Amino acid sequence: MLKIGLLGFGTVNSGVYEGITDTLPYLESILGTRITVEKILIRDKKRYLGEKNSELFTDSPDDFFSYEFDVVFEAMGGEQPALDYITFLLSKKVPIVTANKELVAKHGSNLENLAYKNETFIGYEATVAGGIPIINTLKSQLQWTSVEKISGILNGTTNYIITRLQAGSDDFETVLKEAQQLGFAEADPTSDIEGFDALYKLQILCRLCFGSWPKPEQFQRSGMSHLKSCHFKAGEYFNLKLKYIAEAYYDGTDIKGSISPCFVDAKSPLASIENENNGVYLQGDWLGNFFASGPGAGKRPTATSMIEDFLHQLQKSGNQPRVPKLKKISKLECKEFLLVFDTNNETEVYHTLKEIIHSVEEVVQFDNNQKVAMLVTINELIPLNNTANEKVEFYPVLRVNGKVQKTKANKQLKAL
Ligand SMILES: NC(=O)c1ccc[n+]([C@@H]2O[C@H](COP(=O)([O-])OP(=O)(O)OC[C@H]3O[C@@H](n4cnc5c(N)ncnc54)[C@H](OP(=O)(O)O)[C@@H]3O)[C@@H](O)[C@H]2O)c1
Repeated sequence: MLKIGLLGFGTVNSGVYEGITDTLPYLESILGTRITVEKILIRDKKRYLGEKNSELFTDSPDDFFSYEFDVVFEAMGGEQPALDYITFLLSKKVPIVTANKELVAKHGSNLENLAYKNETFIGYEATVAGGIPIINTLKSQLQWTSVEKISGILNGTTNYIITRLQAGSDDFETVLKEAQQLGFAEADPTSDIEGFDALYKLQILCRLCFGSWPKPEQFQRSGMSHLKSCHFKAGEYFNLKLKYIAEAYYDGTDIKGSISPCFVDAKSPLASIENENNGVYLQGDWLGNFFASGPGAGKRPTATSMIEDFLHQLQKSGNQPRVPKLKKISKLECKEFLLVFDTNNETEVYHTLKEIIHSVEEVVQFDNNQKVAMLVTINELIPLNNTANEKVEFYPVLRVNGKVQKTKANKQLKAL
């Protein structure tokens, strides 16, 4: 008999419960044993009185932890009390499957070690890119293969907003409200639109690709709420698509990266990821380019990840956290940028930036000739939050295979 506990019963864990109960005979045949959901911990029992099997619900942690479990699925969210509960369960050798990216990004190192010490496991497939099985793919395939660079669309809310702005909606607030009504965005969208959610997921992917847990300070992060449809129009002129990209690489000393609006080569598979979907693009010397895409969140896709994660963890041998072979990135490619500034700042901007600009590829005026977009290559990597000229928006340009594809060099100013 396999006894299951659920911490939380919201979008994700109600999906896990339905997934388990709807396919019980099949799951039992895979595992070769009977399965029961023993207890479900929530905050307020009254809210769950209408649920089937309402006797399973408890809002008393003491009651929940008085039961014995063979696995616990955690989808409460937040750092506490999830951290204390999982620490307690792992110490008792109870396997954990979690969807809680904030918890794993901030405490994954200690929790993995605790699980290893207690000969159990913590699975966190569902923390990154909802239904895309990227974590366990990396866990199974990274003994010899090294990854040089991760680029991803890791947040469904921001990708949905971007898709709508790309289609011509100009008002960020209206699009955000629409995303909230459709259930893609939280009531408080800060974590999504300021890039914290994508940062947590990027930290977790770095653990798998580069073998250690990076700190938030190792990444530059800029939000996306200032974007307007005119930015997309300027990108189209250069055959580039604006996306909210999380990327990371190992520079030979440290893991580095960014979460920011980027212009992506229209040929990149990331350019075609629309609405609430996610995409993960990995580059490596032997691996070449690997791309996976799919639903970034949602009840069923995320529940699928949780259940598959449990089966994967049970069936794999050994719990030692994997340490992949580290590979320094062969070239730092982000030397191409699209700079955006107001027409009335032109002279000042040209003057301030001439020290760092290697070449100007093309310049266009857009937004009723009020703004300038300038495609440039630069001498060295510059920080996104560049202070050289606060009047300039800096957008990195990502090309397929990192190759700068020169546009027909036309430095004449054109009007879009
Ligand atoms: N939604 C998605 O598509 C998705 C996808 C991937 C990952 N995730 C992650 O999965 C986690 C859960 O997300 P969700 O969307 O399922 O959240 P949700 O719908 O808000 O559900 C949270 C559940 O946890 C319970 N809970 C919260 N705090 C608790 C506490 N202190 N003690 C006991 N129960 C508590 C809530 O109970 P009450 O109702 O009684 O408050 C509720 O049942 C988050 O970390 C999220 O980032 C979500």
